[in-house]
Amino acid sequence: MSTILVTGAAGFIGFHVAMRLSARGERVLGVDDFNDYYEQELKIARAGRLSRDAHVDIRRVDVANPSAIRDLMAVEDVDRVIHLAAQAGVRYSLDHPFAYERSNMAGHLSVLEACRHTPKLNHLVYASSSSVYGDRPSSGQAFKETDPVDHPISLYAASKRAGELMSDTYSHLFNIPQTGLRFFTVYGPWGRPDMAYFSFTRKALRGEPVAIFGEGRLQRDFTYIDDIVDGIVGVLDRPPLNGGHRILNIGNNQPRSLSDFVSIIEAACGRPLKKSILQMQPGDVSCTWADVSAINGLTGYTPKTSLEVGISEFVSWFRSRYTDDGEVRAN
Ligand SMILES: NC(=O)c1ccc[n+]([C@@H]2O[C@H](COP(=O)([O-])OP(=O)(O)OC[C@H]3O[C@@H](n4cnc5c(N)ncnc54)[C@H](O)[C@@H]3O)[C@@H](O)[C@H]2O)c1
Repeated sequence: MSTILVTGAAGFIGFHVAMRLSARGERVLGVDDFNDYYEQELKIARAGRLSRDAHVDIRRVDVANPSAIRDLMAVEDVDRVIHLAAQAGVRYSLDHPFAYERSNMAGHLSVLEACRHTPKLNHLVYASSSSVYGDRPSSGQAFKETDPVDHPISLYAASKRAGELMSDTYSHLFNIPQTGLRFFTVYGPWGRPDMAYFSFTRKALRGEPVAIFGEGRLQRDFTYIDDIVDGIVGVLDRPPLNGGHRILNIGNNQPRSLSDFVSIIEAACGRPLKKSILQMQPGDVSCTWADVSAINGLTGYTPKTSLEVGISEFVSWFRSRYTDDGEVRAN
């Protein structure tokens, strides 16, 4: 049976995508290295749900190991790949640069090589990031795929741009049908503990102070996970013709300020946050804002979830998994 390989399947987005594809009757094979960048327990819990509730076969594999990925794809009859495994995070890249070299650059190349040697490959969809646009404080315009991306301001962003360039070369040389998706701040249930919505919720419930960087004026195009999954699956089903490569934004087209975001978290938690206001951090960009007309034209993608609804869904999930002290609930 033809199989979809999802890399990073124990991660936040990979978990939701694998769940959705399995629910529509696809055979899904997940891989992840279960590293300890954030709490491994959460990755293990997502993987447990995937294998128990969705019968997704999930294996511990490092995508940066080329022979492991290539052998797996050959043996398991893989014809579509959703490559999400990566070292995420802008701030972490200041102190752990080689994690990005390994997972994002060597890992991306290893997936491309495996696809090159899979003649029946129908489509490789891979994760890029809005961070490739760099810092554009005063543009007042949504980011378009045709905008310049020559000045990434973090190694994370540079590693994602490197992935896009490698993909372009591989499509040119070997006719691999590919779509790169530039994600814009994805959030929701089963999300990432290193992201602000997660840590702010944890701190609001514990009554601990939070650091608000950029004096609350930073803006992000927060995108709810269910909308993102709609977009990924819609794109997967529409491979580019003739082994081409395209890059699409996938965001919400509605940037919100960090101050708004904090008020929404306070309302959803029913607790005020103790805030300390700080300067922007190196590598942070002032604003992200996706023009989504290209993905909308291709798939009809239209994000539907407001930040108020999405954060409230997240906080409900958070409280079902953790106590207000932040401990994982026994179940
Ligand atoms: N969540 C966002 O807001 C966002 C924004 C822009 C881009 N992205 C990109 O989307 C993708 C998924 O992000 P996410 O939010 O689900 O992050 P995540 O960290 O939850 O998921 C990534 C998964 O990849 C795994 N992984 C890392 N290195 C690996 C390796 N060498 N081999 C195998 N597995 C490895 C991790 O263990 C993790 O489970 C990433 O490529 C990320 O860069 C996410």
